[in-house]
Amino acid sequence: KIPLLIDTDPGVDDALALLMAFNDPRHEIVGLTIAAGNVGLAHTVANALKLCEVAAVAPPVFAGCAAPLLHAAEDAGYVHGRDGFGDVGHPPADRHAETEHAAQAILRLSHEHAGRLLLVALGPLTNLAVALKLDPTLPQRVARLVVMGGAVTGRGNTSAVAEFNIGFDPEAAHIVFDAFARVELVDWEAVMEHGFRHADVERWLQCGSSRAGFYESISRRTRQWAAERRGERWHSADALAMAHALHPDGALEVAERPLAIELSGLHSRGATVVDWQRRGGNPDNAAILLRYDQARFEGLIEAALAAG
Ligand code: BDR
Ligand code: CA
Repeated sequence: KIPLLIDTDPGVDDALALLMAFNDPRHEIVGLTIAAGNVGLAHTVANALKLCEVAAVAPPVFAGCAAPLLHAAEDAGYVHGRDGFGDVGHPPADRHAETEHAAQAILRLSHEHAGRLLLVALGPLTNLAVALKLDPTLPQRVARLVVMGGAVTGRGNTSAVAEFNIGFDPEAAHIVFDAFARVELVDWEAVMEHGFRHADVERWLQCGSSRAGFYESISRRTRQWAAERRGERWHSADALAMAHALHPDGALEVAERPLAIELSGLHSRGATVVDWQRRGGNPDNAAILLRYDQARFEGLIEAALAAG
């Protein structure tokens, strides 16, 4: 099986991505490293543990960095709920996180699975950046790094140009894009092109499984929020990244380009600056997903919710 390490800040769409990973027989989840992002670290850790409990799986969960590297950032509790899981009030899981720090766990697991590790980052990149500062040789041991983040032509979701995961901790993102020769990127603009009809989502959620029942409850608030703002379609950013990570053959169009993170700028901090015309002479370091097989994507989600 392919060893899979997921760095995540659950988060409603993180949860869907995790359910997809739990349901994949070809990958073995060797750890969940938890970032602050959508909400504070105490909540994102509790949410990861709770989701594992509901799904009756028990990968080790490691708490990571509680804040961005340099500047405080606003969380996304207004989308995901103050507790990150829709403020439904589910009781906490019985299990606790491991004592090892997420950044240390990333490094240890990269040694244990050197050359084979699939690393998927679904939140701000703080834990990965710290791991890279502790040991810059990390990329040599990672087979693939898939990141959900960015807005590759500048249509962001937290500022005019920045997407949430990158905008939350641009310095961390800079460290990661600088260190890895190739980052497989699933950006917010691709996510917007891969929405679901609300009627389909309802059908998936009403299938009667305990995973779907739980997911229906935690996602109710974000589904309403999205319906009011984006009308017709519902989107799941992290689920698209996970689909691409687990089934790269579902990608229909990928563009390889140089990508840099804007760290200053009056209006553009946190932007993912893609050199579409390759004017700067830098190497292509990002493989940007442009189009994924929508039927395949939806099938994976439906199966993930029905399982268990
Ligand atoms: C990303 O930000 C978070 O709110 C989501 O979980 C996703 O990872 C989308 O911009
Ligand atoms: Ca996320």
